[in-house]
Amino acid sequence: MLVGEIPALREFWYPVAYDIDIDLADDPMQVRLFGEEYAVWRDGDSLAAALDMCPHRGARLSQGWAGDGCVTCPYHGWKFDADGTCVEVPQSPGLPIPARARLASVHAGERYGLVWVCVAEYPRAGIPDLQLHLSGIRLDPARCRLT
Ligand code: FES
Repeated sequence: MLVGEIPALREFWYPVAYDIDIDLADDPMQVRLFGEEYAVWRDGDSLAAALDMCPHRGARLSQGWAGDGCVTCPYHGWKFDADGTCVEVPQSPGLPIPARARLASVHAGERYGLVWVCVAEYPRAGIPDLQLHLSGIRLDPARCRLT
């Protein structure tokens, strides 16, 4: 059995990137967790993440761009907010957007200079308190901040 197939493990937070890398990328960044790809992008002061697959035709959101708190798909330009709701379909201006045009969003956060993701609908706990468990953990001190 693969780790990603153990449902309980999906209920916790995992570091997937350094936050500075998300900042430098400026656009969505692809990360992998449990053998699946996710797109992570900055939404103002916070982060957003979703399965790296557009609900329209399956394009990779990580190849799109971020702006105004949204991610835009590179294929047909559909735009999704941080909650995963489609807010713009450029080919159909003024028409209602189908409810199924929605990203598979997951929880994202940042702490210690790291980007954390939890793929469960309801995380079992918050982002772990590393200061309690630091012995034996090697982090790049130039990129991580214990605050
Ligand atoms: S595949 Fe994403 S908008 Fe068409």
